[in-house]
Amino acid sequence: MLSENQAFALLKRRVRIDRGLDCEQYKENYLKRRVAVRLRATGAADYLAYLRVLKNDPEEYTRLMNELTINVTQFFRDKDVYLKIRDEVMPTLFRAKEVIGSRTIRVWSAGCATGEEPYSLAMLIDHRLGAEEGRWNVRILGSDIDLESIRAARKGEYSKVDMLEDMDIKEYFETTETPRGRVYRVRERVRRTVKLEELNLLGDNQKRRFDLVLCRNVLIYFGRDVQRRIIEGISSEILHEGYLVLGKSETLGQEAGSLFNPAFPRERIYRHTAGSPERGAGGANG
Ligand SMILES: C[S@@+](CC[C@H](N)C(=O)[O-])C[C@H]1O[C@@H](n2cnc3c(N)ncnc32)[C@H](O)[C@@H]1O
Repeated sequence: MLSENQAFALLKRRVRIDRGLDCEQYKENYLKRRVAVRLRATGAADYLAYLRVLKNDPEEYTRLMNELTINVTQFFRDKDVYLKIRDEVMPTLFRAKEVIGSRTIRVWSAGCATGEEPYSLAMLIDHRLGAEEGRWNVRILGSDIDLESIRAARKGEYSKVDMLEDMDIKEYFETTETPRGRVYRVRERVRRTVKLEELNLLGDNQKRRFDLVLCRNVLIYFGRDVQRRIIEGISSEILHEGYLVLGKSETLGQEAGSLFNPAFPRERIYRHTAGSPERGAGGANG
């Protein structure tokens, strides 16, 4: 007879073998809480009973994965952070690019769930640039480990949207009335600047050299060691003096803290002290 801990270890092993998700990376309490939701939902009395449910019902695997990689998000979440990016971070980045004669800005929303964050950034930059937009090549990447979320993001249709005060919803969304309510579709012009991909932050780094990376409300699910690995991975993809933005309840650990200086601590915006050097116009970033 297996103890509860042994059965839980068995469950984690199966999830890793069957779905490639390494549960050891997550905080134990977080994991148990999320799995408990699925136990309740399926009526499984314990972990062993739940393992039998998983064996007989592949759909339940999908539900469990969704539960573990919780993907709550919204447009312009924490507006003060977006204001800081618009009023402080973007002007600094644009100025720095002009100095080296580059016209490309690369932004990455790492752990973007259903896409609200990368689309918000695209809209924010579009709004900020206004008539100057055509002079810049803005590329935004949104990525997430959860393929279902990425598929939803690619669709770009939402039932609830939000904007900063001086932005006009109609400029960025087409609205359709349907029997199920109003649907907001991100306009093609914005969608064109956003690329969306399935990507595990604990997998290989791509060395893509971003100017600004948002990794918000992702680290909270992980223990300190894994948080550090994620931050180091992201750090290797940010240009020298590029920016990193974390979630409001997240901070850099001490070790990772040496890679960044706080730029706007209240908004959890950090500036890279090391990182890959800017290659200038026409280089890998151009
Ligand atoms: C709460 S959402 C945050 C969404 C958005 N960044 C925000 O702050 O509104 C966390 C996202 O992190 C993703 N995630 C969790 N582990 C991940 C990993 N190892 N690699 C990439 N994404 C991951 C989840 O799938 C989920 O969509």
